[in-house]
Amino acid sequence: LGFRMGLLLGLCFSLLLGSTSAVDRGNFKTCAQSSFCKRQRALKPGQSPYRALLDTLELSDSRLTLQLINDNNKVHLLLELYRLQGNITRVKINELKPLKPRFEVPDVLVGEPPTEPLSVLSKDDNGVVLSLGPESQRLIVSARPFRLDIMEGPQVLLSLNSRGLLAFEHLQLRKNTQVDPEGAEVKENVDGAEQQGEEEKVGVRVHGWRIYFKYCLKKPNLFLFLGPTSVSLDFSLPGVEHVYGIPEHADNLKLKTTEGGDPYRLYNLDVFQYELYNPMALYGAVPVMLAHNTQRTMGIFWLNAAETWVDISSNTTVFGKMLDFVQGSSETPQTDVRWVSESGIIDVFIMLGPKPSDVFTQYASLTGTQSFPPLAALAYHQCRWNYNDQEDVKAVDQGFDQHDVPYDFIWLDIEHTDGKRYFTWDPHKFPQPKDMLQGIMDKRRMMVAIVDPHIKVDSGYKIHNEIRDKNFYVKNKDGGDYEGWCWPGNSGYPDFTNPEMRAFWASMFAYDQYEGSMENLYTWNDMNEPSVFNGPEVTMYKDAMHGSWEHRDLHNLYGFYVVMDIANGESDWSLFVCMNAGAVWTGDNAAEWEHLKISIPMCLSLGLVGISLCGADVGGFFKSPSTELLVRWYQTGAYQPFFRAHAHLDTPRREPWLFGPENTALIREAVRQRYALLPYWYQQFYQAHKTGQPVMRPLWVEYPKDTASFAIDDEFLIGRDLLVHPVTEEGARGLTAYLPGHGEVWYDVHTFQKHNGAQNLYIPVTMSSIPVFQRGGSIIPRKLRVRRSSACMENDPYTLYVALNPQRAAEGELYIDDGHTFSFQTKKEFIHRSLTFAYNTLTSRNLCTESNFSTKSWIEKVLILGASKPKKVTLQMDGKETSVEFEFDASMSVLTLRKPGMNAGADWTVKLQ
Ligand SMILES: *[C@@H]1O[C@H](CO)[C@@H](O)[C@H](O)[C@H]1NC(C)=O
Ligand SMILES: *[C@@H]1O[C@H](CO)[C@@H](O)[C@H](O)[C@H]1NC(C)=O
Ligand SMILES: *[C@@H]1O[C@H](CO)[C@@H](O)[C@H](O)[C@H]1NC(C)=O
Repeated sequence: LGFRMGLLLGLCFSLLLGSTSAVDRGNFKTCAQSSFCKRQRALKPGQSPYRALLDTLELSDSRLTLQLINDNNKVHLLLELYRLQGNITRVKINELKPLKPRFEVPDVLVGEPPTEPLSVLSKDDNGVVLSLGPESQRLIVSARPFRLDIMEGPQVLLSLNSRGLLAFEHLQLRKNTQVDPEGAEVKENVDGAEQQGEEEKVGVRVHGWRIYFKYCLKKPNLFLFLGPTSVSLDFSLPGVEHVYGIPEHADNLKLKTTEGGDPYRLYNLDVFQYELYNPMALYGAVPVMLAHNTQRTMGIFWLNAAETWVDISSNTTVFGKMLDFVQGSSETPQTDVRWVSESGIIDVFIMLGPKPSDVFTQYASLTGTQSFPPLAALAYHQCRWNYNDQEDVKAVDQGFDQHDVPYDFIWLDIEHTDGKRYFTWDPHKFPQPKDMLQGIMDKRRMMVAIVDPHIKVDSGYKIHNEIRDKNFYVKNKDGGDYEGWCWPGNSGYPDFTNPEMRAFWASMFAYDQYEGSMENLYTWNDMNEPSVFNGPEVTMYKDAMHGSWEHRDLHNLYGFYVVMDIANGESDWSLFVCMNAGAVWTGDNAAEWEHLKISIPMCLSLGLVGISLCGADVGGFFKSPSTELLVRWYQTGAYQPFFRAHAHLDTPRREPWLFGPENTALIREAVRQRYALLPYWYQQFYQAHKTGQPVMRPLWVEYPKDTASFAIDDEFLIGRDLLVHPVTEEGARGLTAYLPGHGEVWYDVHTFQKHNGAQNLYIPVTMSSIPVFQRGGSIIPRKLRVRRSSACMENDPYTLYVALNPQRAAEGELYIDDGHTFSFQTKKEFIHRSLTFAYNTLTSRNLCTESNFSTKSWIEKVLILGASKPKKVTLQMDGKETSVEFEFDASMSVLTLRKPGMNAGADWTVKLQ
């Protein structure tokens, strides 16, 4: 499937050669080494120079503007406020009259967000009160110092600039820059330059003020030298102790205070052997934070693509004395956050919830939802750097059949190419790619081959020549093609921000362009941070040019643009793009227990901000896992959205059957559990695509008032109904899982034993244990006849697991389509049914009457967990009533209906009497 992409994201799969040392911290900047971060962090709270000029206020139907003045330098800013549909407030701050336009992030929002009318409730010399619609929500603009408060009734939900850390470095001519009116090069006097500017670790050009913008005026070579451009704003969240999101970081789910350490950094980087539990930047960046307490969930979406740092501090304070509207003065916990970006403008969306699901809907309304992956993408993927040649691929493929382990995709890393020229094949190792692909296809399996966005500078390479001739490469500051070192050696970097370049790139995937490709070949988009081995922090110089914009302005968008148009799937090319814009991984991890553990919070954090198809390299990329770790990783990965094994070139082979029959059996069982559950996974992704709700969820999302769940990140939910607490401890004999929900029950999916909610449950474990529980009140479909790939299971029958709640009721859904085309969208070719159990009656009902799809699959078994023994069971279908065979297991209270025999797409009712 093509993927719709709506996220500010530059994740990629990446690889780096290297030994076994830990991350080289010296390669990556701390806040103190990033001069704008250091400068901004040195600002002290409570001294805001900004004042709102209330007499400049203008209100149209849905937009309020007013000017802010910085009393220190008299620079005017323009504040714009919008009330957006669905409880979202947008706050934009830009210079009133910048010397040149500042970068505003394009293409990320799905459209201009629909607005709602704004109205002024009151106005005086101190400020303005605006109505945010129903529920007595108000937005208060205070004039001196400038601050914004969003309130509901007497409660402050969130304040902006309440600590006075709004800072907006305006564009200004360098003091000693002379602009030659004849258009000659600007003369630049570096003597006596102020030591306040940016310094790159590599690439310092002038001390002090760097060349910030090379803005083309009338003549091509006339540049203005402008100063630093960073922006910053603080947010206070009274009553909030838990904030989440802003991936990607190798850290716990609940974000920590950054006091005394570095802020969380968002700057897409290819980090070699990253460290755990710290706020360093990793491969991707999604500038969205969620704040949660028992009353409300809110979100902050900071729409900026430049290097960004986020400080978090907790505070207990008597909040809001300065506001008349605030009642009471009891001590409240409070979280203060502060965002700092190197350039661009302040453009922030405040998503007011109130429920977690509302925040997901609100964010999805701005940036779109998770693409709907093909069913096979949710199955098991076998990858390594590298499968050596066609024979190797064939042997691995056969190994899976010999050992009866299913898989859907085998992946080829960079070594499959002819000298790292992407879209080509190594003529010795992969001389007949189509034969190889056909062999895979005969097994109803697929292949993924890597295509990286750096292009070998080689006049014998067609793609390089075309990109160069079309002038599509990113430029360096002097206007020549930017070149950096990457896998092929010296490489050019296509400017994917240019739509023509993207169209060209998309056309390269056509079968007649990409020789040796076939319909079961998909693409792996890697290295798009972009990764530049000899660049500053292993990425591109910030003053490289994308048209008239500096790389600095849009760095975190580069990966987004790499996949944007191939992902959009306009169909004059036919290769599927499998692993992007939807599937992301947690980076080049290591075969260590702590890396297995952290895969859970890392994927949960991505899921919270709209990226559900997340997984970690099963087994760990660097180093070699112990057999125990490998088995535990398969067991964990089998219950995470993107399930792919991957390994470094230097590691010993680790296909599932290489560790003795006992371990092969354990891995086989984990993979089979995944395949059996694919109908449920697929349905969850359909929901994620439709509604923006995450697939892999932290417990608090479903139990928002249960404070015991707020910081849990060693277990998770899949959708609402499955709770997974994988074994991630070496040598574990048991573990304690938290089962949430007062008055709820959970059923062990393996034994069907029932447990009460709202308890910590000790579970003894063996090497075969994967603790998973089904929520009482849910119905989950599985396909128990596991075959060699998901495609082979297409017409297989379903088994329904009906888990009764204490009220003896349950509900669930069944979603079926062809598994890989857009027909579900364009022709409504799908089956979407609601399954309900109540009053001893199980009913299947159509959820979408216009839908039109038929399936050969039937329901071969129904298990009702927590049931009592009926006298008789009948099936009503097509106006006929028949009796159904059943068995009752009194020890576990499980009623099994054998071969009720209805088609999975039909209307039917089963009655227990
Ligand atoms: C907006 O907020 C109000 C008050 O908190 C809430 O009742 C309503 O459901 C919210 N609407 C949406 C679309 O989130
Ligand atoms: C807590 O917040 C108050 C009010 O905003 C502020 O005066 C105080 O300095 C803050 N304390 C800390 C430790 O940040
Ligand atoms: C469903 O599709 C089939 C085959 O394309 C067609 O014959 C039938 O009329 C369609 N039914 C509805 C309800 O659209």
